[in-house]
Amino acid sequence: MPKIKIMNVVGARPQIIKSSAISRAIRMSFSSKLEERTVHTGQHYDKELSEVFFDELEIPPPHYNLGVGSARHGRQTAMMIMGIEEVLYNEKPDCILLYGDTNSTLAGAIAAAKLHFPVIHIEAGLRAFNKSMPEELNRIISDHSSTLLFAPTNAAFKNLINEGFRPENQPPYTIDNPKIYLTGDIMYDNSLFFAELAEKKKSYLLDELKLEHENFILVTIHRDINTDDPTRLQNILSTLNEMAEDYKIPFVMPFHPRTMNSLKKSLVPLYNILRNSKFIKIIPPVSYLEMTLLEKTCRMIITDSGGVQKESHFFRKPCIVLRRETEWIELVANGTVKLVDATPEKIKTEFRSFMTINYELAYPGFYGDGKTSEFILNEILLFLEK
Ligand code: UD1
Ligand code: UDP
Repeated sequence: MPKIKIMNVVGARPQIIKSSAISRAIRMSFSSKLEERTVHTGQHYDKELSEVFFDELEIPPPHYNLGVGSARHGRQTAMMIMGIEEVLYNEKPDCILLYGDTNSTLAGAIAAAKLHFPVIHIEAGLRAFNKSMPEELNRIISDHSSTLLFAPTNAAFKNLINEGFRPENQPPYTIDNPKIYLTGDIMYDNSLFFAELAEKKKSYLLDELKLEHENFILVTIHRDINTDDPTRLQNILSTLNEMAEDYKIPFVMPFHPRTMNSLKKSLVPLYNILRNSKFIKIIPPVSYLEMTLLEKTCRMIITDSGGVQKESHFFRKPCIVLRRETEWIELVANGTVKLVDATPEKIKTEFRSFMTINYELAYPGFYGDGKTSEFILNEILLFLEK
């Protein structure tokens, strides 16, 4: 019997990382029945945002790279749709597999749904209830173009039901009769799989940056609301600098190029202060294993990233989120993620509270059993073998 052909679409850092969980599960348990092909849209192209993950996480190199690069939303998404459409005509896969909520996800959903290829969405149902976020529109449109939707949390599953998806739908599933699943999170599969490897990897980072276990703060910032508004970015970074000085604790900041560009363009005096600070360590983006090591060994995480927020939970670290809202609401309800927007007083209050906490925080298993990728692939097989 010919193998079932799955077409992955990736483009941005977190999607490449997520796709490694699926690739690994195919390699380990499904290679006799499934084959994967991958289109990289080229949304992320710097080595440290893309290639490094293929190498380190042993992901098969993409079969197609559309080389789309950076551009305004409409242009970037349009070029991706054109490229993906071409690949779909050539490859005629049995389905297209999409991850998360980037412009690459959206382009994959539109290109495939219009040509009647079944769309399968991993990380379906997440909502921030803020349509000014580009990701929110991408998620909604991708979900409503999908045939199989894998929601990683109860909240995400409920969001889908609230938008009219029906858990009682029966096969055959189609775009008009979609199937929604409550699964775990494939990023948790990855964290479990790579946590030990990260420890073993001889990393220059901890030594070179002179970091002690549980005695540094890990910071990532890349959301457009924070990077593209110099006042917000200034507020956040000057507050972090102040806290680093007050508490005499290093802050390690592997910054996305978007953040670096804004710092160098709009906030030069602040950038110079940070560069000369004894406690602030701005570094280029790190590899996934390095990031995992930093997350495992830090004292606290401050971020606006969705993925890093969840990883704070996997590695049992308190986390301050530089946004007004989050899709991962179970973390806020759990008290281990605090939403502070970009408000200096809120940032300082939550930081102080986490630094002085004198009880154990709880980290319940919200994100599955570490075998979510296998579950998803089983369901895909059942769907496509019919
Ligand atoms: C994208 C996703 C966001 C995701 C993030 C993960 C969208 C709308 N946004 O945001 O949801 O959380 O990826 O990291 O899809 N750049 C480089 N080198 C690169 C790529 C980008 O320097 O390899 C710079 C360019 O100046 C570019 C800017 O970063 O204009 C933004 O890149 P883009 O892919 O548009 O969005 P991200 O902020 O990376
Ligand atoms: N990550 C990484 N190196 C870094 C920063 C992040 O490997 O320097 C990983 C992180 O561990 C997580 C993923 O990238 O798995 C999150 O991606 P990002 O923050 O870019 O996007 P988001 O999750 O917000 O969409």
